[in-house]
Amino acid sequence: MKPIYFDNNATTPVRAEVFEAMAPFLAPDGGFGNPSSLHTLGQQAHAAMESSREKVAALLGVADPGEIVFTSCGTEADNMAVIGAAFAHREKGRHLITSAVEHHAVLHACDYLEKEHGFQVTYLPVDRFGRVSPNDLRGALRPDTLLVSIMAANNEMGTIEPIQELGAICRSAGVLFHTDAVQSAGKVPLKLKDCPVDLAAISGHKLYGPKGIGALYIRRGVQLHALLHGGAHEKNRRAGTENVPGAVGLGAACAVALKEMSTDEPRVRKMRDRLETGLMERIPFVFLNGHPTERLGNTTNLTFDAVEGESLVLALDQAGFTLKNDALPGLEVSTGSACASGLLEPSHVLKAIGVPMERIHGSVRFSLGHFNTEADIDTALDIIPKVVDRLRSLSPIWEDRQKEKV
Ligand SMILES: Cc1ncc(COP(=O)(O)O)c(C=O)c1O
Repeated sequence: MKPIYFDNNATTPVRAEVFEAMAPFLAPDGGFGNPSSLHTLGQQAHAAMESSREKVAALLGVADPGEIVFTSCGTEADNMAVIGAAFAHREKGRHLITSAVEHHAVLHACDYLEKEHGFQVTYLPVDRFGRVSPNDLRGALRPDTLLVSIMAANNEMGTIEPIQELGAICRSAGVLFHTDAVQSAGKVPLKLKDCPVDLAAISGHKLYGPKGIGALYIRRGVQLHALLHGGAHEKNRRAGTENVPGAVGLGAACAVALKEMSTDEPRVRKMRDRLETGLMERIPFVFLNGHPTERLGNTTNLTFDAVEGESLVLALDQAGFTLKNDALPGLEVSTGSACASGLLEPSHVLKAIGVPMERIHGSVRFSLGHFNTEADIDTALDIIPKVVDRLRSLSPIWEDRQKEKV
């Protein structure tokens, strides 16, 4: 039985086209050369890396592939931007600005700079939809601000930040602007060359590429301190023998995304909307977290009042696992972000938009993707109301709600 997968913001399956592109670079008789080697095998690997760099640049809408540096993941790309910029520009000042809803890849990098290196960080609040206010950014800028880092789209709610406006404020203040584009790359068109963005992070496994590969866009002329020290790889910006199959996979994934985004995005958005409105119509006391319109087309984060989110995720998982029946396949969804859900800590993102603690615990993220079908939505609309009903029938909070209604 194939589970229905609604957790594409956590990770995506590798597309067949990507797998095929990577395979020759993993085969024992294939292109396993070291891109730094001068012999033919090495130069083939080098050429494959450069061709992939062009594909990444094309998806991000940057003119010069030399502005793309391959990293091991989105986290490394974010760390390279935040820590690399802080160390390279500390003579300018020791102040950074970010938002309360960033991924931990940015938040914990900022925390490290504060705790271990004496930098100061301002965490901008967000409105109830998760958006940063340009006025708040203007007010937080200081003469010693060296970097602003605001994500392009949020992983938990899908809310899209006003990057163009925020970047323009930074550009006119002469402050570097980084955006974590891990969730938006491949889902929304990015034309970074026309945007006041200096640094942007992406990750392979969020757009149908492999895990273990990411990239950082570094606008020409922007200086960063390297995080890894060793050989002169990636033009001295990131030492270490390159992950050639991974880079080839990321390039192939970017090429597929560029080709299909205009047709795939509306198709996925339509299914997401049907799922969202269908659940809200069928189940009482369901609330949307995130922006109603300025939001990724694949994401919906819903609070099911009086339901424990973890129990809902597990019950839905079990619906498929225990029944082992194609009529009732499992549903893979996620409470909060995958990275945070293992900790059972209330989501910092939902806290930041003001969701009360008891409702945070009843919040679940559905993130759809390329492989979902309308039949998946039909099944979800059939199963989820039943599961929520069952969980609520066991909940003392739900009992109280019923009494309140009488
Ligand atoms: C917005 C965002 N930034 C960064 C990351 C980290 O990416 P990676 O898993 O490639 O390290 C994630 C992963 O969930 C993410 O959603």
